Amino acid sequence: MSRPIKRIAICTGGGDAPGLNAVIRAVVLAATNRGWECYGIRDGFNGILFPERYVEGGVIRLTRERVRGIAHLGGTILGSTNRGNPLHFPTRLPDGSMGEMDRSAEILDYFARQELDALVSVGGDGSLTIADALHRKGLRVVGVPKTIDNDLDKTVTTFGFDTAVSFATECLDRLHTTAESHQRVLVVEVMGRYAGWIALHAGIAGNAHAILIPEIPFDLDQVVRQIRARDDDGRLYSLVVVAEGAVPLQGDMEVAAAAEAGHEQRLGGMGEHVAQALQQRSGKEARVVVLGHLLRGGSPTAFDRLAALRFGAAAVRALDQGLSGVMVALAFPNVNYVALADVAGRMKAVPLDSDTIQTARDLGICLGD
Ligand code: F6P
Repeated sequence: MSRPIKRIAICTGGGDAPGLNAVIRAVVLAATNRGWECYGIRDGFNGILFPERYVEGGVIRLTRERVRGIAHLGGTILGSTNRGNPLHFPTRLPDGSMGEMDRSAEILDYFARQELDALVSVGGDGSLTIADALHRKGLRVVGVPKTIDNDLDKTVTTFGFDTAVSFATECLDRLHTTAESHQRVLVVEVMGRYAGWIALHAGIAGNAHAILIPEIPFDLDQVVRQIRARDDDGRLYSLVVVAEGAVPLQGDMEVAAAAEAGHEQRLGGMGEHVAQALQQRSGKEARVVVLGHLLRGGSPTAFDRLAALRFGAAAVRALDQGLSGVMVALAFPNVNYVALADVAGRMKAVPLDSDTIQTARDLGICLGD
């Protein structure tokens, strides 16, 4: 039987997402209300691996005072990183080349020395895979699903997604009027990694005329056909939403930066490619707008804020109930717990038979197929 919890730590890892601060606040309040002490690790696990970098210390005490008034703020007061996975830490090898090293023992050792009883790890696929590995190595861990991409399995949604979709939709609303004034094709590239959730949801909500997602390899001739049909109908402009991970039927994903030790490949450029090709093939002026990191910034929507607060409180309840190696998940109308092992390394793509895909087709939106 593991000892009763007195002190816990929380970390936020991977690309930031609106709602991280709400999770931190909920964890700290729920823990403090149980008489536990709460600590925040800076920048993923860097606060433990590189304490010398932090004037205030790499691991900071999180009190009720410290988390006052932060639930509505974007970003994370702890900082985050999507580099430097402690299990595959980028390290220069004796021959000068870059390799990887497992530094997880330093984290386990820190928890033991500081008498930290458990970790709440808030992150996407990468961070939750690390959380699962730390749990297997003996640490008490509960995960909280975060990502604007909504590509995590076993949860209806992640926090951050709704904010990204809402912002992208607002951008599309704005782009309709300028596209129409200039009779242009406007191509809007959105993030989402290898899944098309943001593109699909924002594209439908924002009345796009074509939406290209990684799950449906696209044929640009279909998009040109859609643009021409609109022209013939007197609607002389078109909006095309392109997921950064969208793939042409004949061709490859656009990679902005190749993978390197400790960092995944970065996608980007498909919007530009599609805009150029559409201009050439349709004869209409086409421009590209890349929303990029704007989708990750700003305050969380009320939906994301509430989800994040619920996830944080549920993570503490899980620890209180003696659970470990689980992730809090949203299973409407409640939250539940799923094994981290069932989430780690799995990607949730948009199901092609979903009613959302069907809705796009029923509305006459071209999906590139
Ligand atoms: O996972 C979140 C995300 O914003 C993806 O949509 C995107 O592909 C990636 O992170 C970008 O990462 P970076 O912050 O390294 O540019």
